[in-house]
Amino acid sequence: MFSNDRVRLRPQTPDDAELDHAIWSDPDTYLVVSDAPFVPKSLDAVKAKIEKETTEPDSGAKFVAFVVETTADATALGTCALFGMDNFNGLAQLGMVLLPVARGHGYGRDALSLLCLYGFRMRNLRRIELSTFATNTGMRKTAEACGFTHEGMQRQRSYNGEGYGDIAIYGLLRGEWNDGGQKPA
Ligand SMILES: CC(C)(COP(=O)(O)OP(=O)(O)OC[C@H]1O[C@@H](n2cnc3c(N)ncnc32)[C@H](O)[C@@H]1OP(=O)(O)O)[C@@H](O)C(=O)NCCC(=O)NCCS
Repeated sequence: MFSNDRVRLRPQTPDDAELDHAIWSDPDTYLVVSDAPFVPKSLDAVKAKIEKETTEPDSGAKFVAFVVETTADATALGTCALFGMDNFNGLAQLGMVLLPVARGHGYGRDALSLLCLYGFRMRNLRRIELSTFATNTGMRKTAEACGFTHEGMQRQRSYNGEGYGDIAIYGLLRGEWNDGGQKPA
């Protein structure tokens, strides 16, 4: 799978429902990460959703999710995904959420770098995009550390629990991508 000496990305399975449920049932994380209304879901509903996502015939065509775990002992750290995969334009968006306990240890940077390796090398993408609240310093610095360029700001774009926050847009082009020598010619 996709790994370095600290972090591995592996496919999601229905057994990861507890991890997904823990991440997405935290209202504060949800407000930072999602652009949709918060509707609490049962563990069974999360499991059914993962089952559907991983088994439907075109699974992976537009959306691919990974569990982020430690390489050393497979401790689950969070999830990351490429979504909105657009083959015609060669682009996709990315999302990433680590458990609170896993944040701030460099795992996000490692996981983002591996997700770019998957996107550029295995999906032959030309461009990977991400959007995040302008106030999300952690995601912004992680993106910049992986070579993403800040391309602009959408003013008062998304509800943040109190009002409408500005959204920072980032992009990384294949030709700008530097993954430490693993990228194809
Ligand atoms: C955003 C997130 C994925 C980053 O992963 P992480 O493992 O915490 O980040 P890292 O430890 O790899 O840090 C990467 C860089 O960001 C900086 N950083 C990380 N969290 C930070 C924070 N809260 N405030 C300021 N800087 C921060 C680090 O100092 C590092 O900077 P450097 O390159 O100058 O050394 C993670 O914090 C997270 O899951 N946050 C909650 C969900 C979220 O916001 N997801 C993104 C939604 S679009």
